[in-house]
Amino acid sequence: MPAPLTDATVDALRAQTPGTQHTTHFNHAGASLPSTATLEAVHAHLWREATMGPMEAGVAARAQIERARSLAAGLLNAQPAEIAVTTGNSQAWGSAFAALGTWQPGDRILVGRHEWGGNLASMRLSAVRAGASIEVIPSDDSGEVDPEALEAMLDERVRLIALTWMPANGGLINPAAAIGQIARRHGIAYFIDAAQAVGQIPVDVAQLGCDVLTGAGRKALRGPRGTGLLYVRQDFLPRLTPAYVDTQTAPLDDDGEPVVRSDAARFESVEVASALRCGLANALQEALDIGVDNIRTRIDAVAQTLRAELAQIDGVAVLDQGRERSGLVAFNVAGIDAREVQRALAAQGVAVGSNGVGYTPFDMNARGLTQIARASVSYLTTEAEIGKLVESLRTLVR
Ligand SMILES: Cc1ncc(COP(=O)(O)O)c(C=O)c1O
Repeated sequence: MPAPLTDATVDALRAQTPGTQHTTHFNHAGASLPSTATLEAVHAHLWREATMGPMEAGVAARAQIERARSLAAGLLNAQPAEIAVTTGNSQAWGSAFAALGTWQPGDRILVGRHEWGGNLASMRLSAVRAGASIEVIPSDDSGEVDPEALEAMLDERVRLIALTWMPANGGLINPAAAIGQIARRHGIAYFIDAAQAVGQIPVDVAQLGCDVLTGAGRKALRGPRGTGLLYVRQDFLPRLTPAYVDTQTAPLDDDGEPVVRSDAARFESVEVASALRCGLANALQEALDIGVDNIRTRIDAVAQTLRAELAQIDGVAVLDQGRERSGLVAFNVAGIDAREVQRALAAQGVAVGSNGVGYTPFDMNARGLTQIARASVSYLTTEAEIGKLVESLRTLVR
């Protein structure tokens, strides 16, 4: 068990993160700041490509990609054969969804109120156009998806339950394992979008009871942009036919027939940015070394402090829902557009995010929100940084 994170360890980790010297970063949920070692892993591979020849350097990269796969499997309590390394969360989610096959009129997809807009777009493009419906599972008073309400909606026409575990528009954490128990009991396919969760809270796919789970490399894991993870449960793999294949994912046999790989790597591509995957391997190793339990504890404490501080500023409304909370903190400033808040804080050297309706349409509409500003923390976030954000906001509302 890695030792809990102390202020001294956080200082040491910050010293190995160049971005912390240049920006006050509260957009870790957009993309976090990579460590020097992760940058060096990327850089080293680009040099290998330039000096050895890119194809020749690929041999060294292959070992790193397999390392990333094994580390990701360890992080999620999965088997390496159940992991595909992707270019991001959407590519992971979209390829698994497209592999479910054709949809029929009357098929039902049940989603949480917080479902990511990109996943909804994939559903609409194929399933809804074929006559399937997307139905929103009611949330309870805390805003979390209500497992009992889900159970009451089930019938034999439900083909998929999709949940965004940690929504992009605030601090709520959905009861992903309770929903998984229901999905398993009824034998319904269950996809979890864990873009914000992987690297931020412990993820155990066996306990979650999911068939598919997706994560982003650049968020809590602090990997390079352009990296992501796809988990597919071993027994679920035969139900998924990739929408497209290549010479690596489905090599032709002697009769010219494609032989689709039997593992989750059927969702990878033959041509990849190897350098980024070397960086991802390093970022995964760092998360495991720090310990995701420790990361969760630290992020929870920092986010609670931030929420309490923001709530004390006149004109700032903290908008987070849910009983258990993540490191994403949503707020609005009275009379100021969220994008303007983002711009004004950026001018003071503080990076926050801002979302409109499109990323989480059902939840935003249900709550009558048209926009949110978002300050998202990491275990790297310090009290001094919170102080700077709060001071910048006070200047803005003055
Ligand atoms: C919950 C959720 N799902 C999906 C995504 C999209 O991930 P990517 O840009 O890696 O495709 C995000 C990005 O912010 C997200 O927060």
